[in-house]
Amino acid sequence: MDKKIKKAIFPAGGLGTRFLPATKASPKEMLPIVDKPMIQYAIEEAIGCNIEEFIIITGKYKRAIEDHFDSAYELEENLRKSDKKKLLEEITRLNHIKLAYIRQRAALGLGHAILCAKPFVKDEPFAVLLSDDVIDTEETLLKDMIRLYGKYGCPVVALEEVPISEVNKYGIIKGTAAGDSVYKISDLIEKPSKEKAPSNLAIIGRYILTSEIFAILEKLPPGKGGEIQLTDALKALLKKQAIYGYLFKGKRYDAGDKLGYLKATVNFALKNTEISDSFARYLLDITMTLKHKKQH
Ligand code: UTP
Repeated sequence: MDKKIKKAIFPAGGLGTRFLPATKASPKEMLPIVDKPMIQYAIEEAIGCNIEEFIIITGKYKRAIEDHFDSAYELEENLRKSDKKKLLEEITRLNHIKLAYIRQRAALGLGHAILCAKPFVKDEPFAVLLSDDVIDTEETLLKDMIRLYGKYGCPVVALEEVPISEVNKYGIIKGTAAGDSVYKISDLIEKPSKEKAPSNLAIIGRYILTSEIFAILEKLPPGKGGEIQLTDALKALLKKQAIYGYLFKGKRYDAGDKLGYLKATVNFALKNTEISDSFARYLLDITMTLKHKKQH
């Protein structure tokens, strides 16, 4: 078995309803966090893990994603002529990567989006990155998961401990500890009520999967919300294969949600050398003003 992960899928075919009206005619994945669209953070995270082929699942109103990763000759020429080397380097840095786009004809769910990539992935293991789960570039989550896949040769999903009041937003696992931050999964439930949740270990948007998932997805009936759910496919896969969970203890931002998006923006703005000092001063200023208002 080839244990190297060379391909990654970036599902971006969802409707982004939590971000309407911004996402009515523009992709959620193109919303900028400081100066880069959120999907670029995910692509760069995968590049850092030696991924060689990038498969983006798109849909209606998602064409801006393809334009973003395409060459922009006129703009490049303009920057070259005006000697804006840094900007030129910034917009051409990813020009060499191997990208493929597959259009998901209807937003039938994350499981369906992944199934759309079957002809490109064939029988290789692959990574899945949900770009609205933004993870700080200093984190090694995906690298750690790839290492774990190398050890077990089985699918690995990223986990995070969430407050019990939020289990109904995630796929939740039941599992037993199998090492440092590692769980062997025995069951998975998509968006359970807090009474029915077997734990508070939620699946977040990073996966290492094997091609066995495609045959299951092909036969899977729609689940919660009428969508083909990846969690349901993983539950079915458990009957044939072990699945491991890797507990992430770093910082993840649910940038598909307004509050999470704002938190991600603040985090990355504070790390941006161009604006971090003045932005930190601004944050202190408004914090003081808010405190003052609260006291009166
Ligand atoms: P979300 O659950 O965030 O759904 O999907 P969404 O449609 O993007 O946003 P909301 O919840 O309506 O606000 C998780 C990931 O799966 C992709 C999304 O693009 C996102 O990256 N997805 C979801 C698809 O590619 N296709 C689908 O049919 C559904």
